[in-house]
Order: sequence, then C-alpha cells, then structure tokens
Amino acid sequence: MNRRTVLAAAAVFSATAALSGLAVAAEPVKVGAIECLTGPAAKYGTMIKAGFDLAAEEINAKGGILKGRTIELIYEDSAAQKEQAINAAKKLIGRDHVVALLGPTLSNEMFAAGPVANERGLPIIGTSNTAKGITDIGEFVFRTSLPESDVLPVTLKKAQAKFGIKKVALLYSNDDAFTKSGFDVFKETLEKLGIEIATIETFSVKDTDFSPQLTKIKSLNVDALVVSALAEAGGGLVLQARQLGIPKTVPIIGGNGFNSPKIAEIAGDSADGVIIGSPWFIAKEGAQNKNFVESFRKKYNMDPDQFAAQAYDTMYILAAAFDRAGEADSKKLRDALTKTDNNGLLGPFKFGADRSPATAEGVVVTTIKGGKFTLLQ
Ligand code: ALA
Repeated sequence: MNRRTVLAAAAVFSATAALSGLAVAAEPVKVGAIECLTGPAAKYGTMIKAGFDLAAEEINAKGGILKGRTIELIYEDSAAQKEQAINAAKKLIGRDHVVALLGPTLSNEMFAAGPVANERGLPIIGTSNTAKGITDIGEFVFRTSLPESDVLPVTLKKAQAKFGIKKVALLYSNDDAFTKSGFDVFKETLEKLGIEIATIETFSVKDTDFSPQLTKIKSLNVDALVVSALAEAGGGLVLQARQLGIPKTVPIIGGNGFNSPKIAEIAGDSADGVIIGSPWFIAKEGAQNKNFVESFRKKYNMDPDQFAAQAYDTMYILAAAFDRAGEADSKKLRDALTKTDNNGLLGPFKFGADRSPATAEGVVVTTIKGGKFTLLQ
C-alpha cells in the first residue's frame, strides 16, 4: 500500500467504526527504554524494567495519558555497552518514532547515548545514572536518580559516627564513569571528615580476582573498606575480602552500585554488614510504599530494589508530564518535565534548574542483613 492508500483505508475504517458505533481507539504513545537486560549489569536493568512495566500497567488501567491513550514501552537491550546504547537510541528514535527515552541504565552508557537524544530534541530520562555531569550533556537530558555527591557524604558520616572509623582503604573501578565519579566523591568526603586513606587500589569493572589488592589491604589494619564499584565486581570483592580473612568488624561501604540484591547473590553471608546510602528502602513507611511493594511482589514474585522504585516513580513523573504537555510532542514534553511536582515512593520530587533532583532529602543509610536491606540504626 502506498501512503495515499493507507490514508484512504484509514478513512474508510474510521467512517465504518463511527457508523457502527465503535470507538476508534487512540494510538498508544510510544516511549523507548534502553536498559541492560543482559550482561553484567542486567540485574539493574531487569529491576528497572519491572518498575516501569508495573507503573505503566497501573497508569494504562486507570485510563492512560492524554485523555485515554496508553503508554507503549519499547525496550532495547544495551548490555552495558556504549555502542549498543547509541544504536538502541538511534533505532528507537529513527525506526520506532518514540516521543521520549528512558535510561540507559549505566552512567557510562548515558554519556554515549544521551547526546543522540539531545541532538534530536528528544527528552531522555536517566533513572539510575548517579555520576557527576549527566545532565550537562544537554537541555533534553534529565535524571531522577540522586548523584553520588548527594548520597555518599551521608553514608560516610553515618558510618564514621557508628563505627568510629579513622583509617580506610579506598578501592574503585577506574574504567567506568560512575565508579570513577563515586571514587572522587568518596575521596573528597573522607578528606573533609578527617579520615585517613591508607591506600587507594584500582581494578577493572571486568575483574574477578581482587586478591592482590585485598592482601595488601589486610596488612594495613584499616577500620573500613570504601568501594566504588558496580554490583558484579563489587559482590566479588566483598566475598573475597571475607574469604581472605578481613573480618566483618571491618565494614565495607559501597556507593549506588551496591544498591542491588546482586551483591548478596554473589557474596552470600559475606554481604552481611555492607553499608549503602539510598534514596529509598523497602520498609519505608506509608501506604503508597506498602501498595507498591505488595503489587510488585504479586506481579513478579520477588522484592523490588531501589532501581525498581526509582523506575516506578519515573513512569508516573513521565505520565504527568505528558498530560501537562497536552500532546505527545517531545519539545512540549521537555518543558512540561521541568515543571514536575511529584509525590512518589521517593518522597516529594522536583527537578532543579540542572534537571537533576532538586533536593536530596530522604537519603537513608542501609545495611545488608541476611541478604536484605535494612536501615542502619
Ligand atoms: N548508578 C550506576 C551508574 O550510574 C548504575 O552507572
């Protein structure tokens, strides 16, 4: 069918539907999501997808957006690869004609794919990117995730007060944007708090053997290990630290990459006592959180994590922005997003002038106990 035939066929269909009293269903609004659905960061991506899907299902069941249109999510797997994230953005924009993009999962991927959306004037919202400088990519780039600079100082202060930490070993992956950014914040904060850094050790996001670094650290008698890593390497590092005899009385403190059940999946009991700051935790009070956790468990037969909660809130933020925009138009949507005023699982939420979260209220410090995240008292 050429374009004219398609239009003619559509007109005949509309007329027939109107004559027969059938409502012509409004077109769904297409939104693309680029997430790590396979590969080393898949635990984050699948939790994010679960959060998006649950929220979109709820929104669509309640009548959708823009007076009765449903949200149609189209996923592309970025597999923690920059090139794949770029190609995913190009495909979603060029072939699927999405109006907005969600993701990508990793800051490393956002620095690659964000410019593609920004250049084409399409809003892209990171729900898990916590590195410095994400929204500096351009005026169409948003994030709902708190940067490391908002969370790590809270985590370190709490750990210092609780455990009297005076001397630490600082470790990080030096080949990833988020882990490097987390390292910078950890280092600066440790110095501000007057905590001695006995050694700085590096590794790759792909590494599985951390024994050279950990053996050296064991001999330094530090009070804590401070680690900026993604979950795959982070979980392995936690496990090996305990196997090599660094006792649990020496806590391991992580950044946003540790906010995943993956840490305990890899490290088992060795994950107990790991300390992480987060904008959300599962036992947060209030009916809204309780309903979310119940619905999530019912749909997926597992507990949500922080990545799922942030994704869930972001879908509601996006839906409300579409309604304020009044139509499925990327530029109007961008402007509407800047006027976000959401009260979700993560509490009251607005974007600051830099399109990152305006405030960092509500950060809590958690610790892993029996594989679960609980508040550090
Ligand atoms: N917070 C991690 C990142 O920004 C997942 O890459």
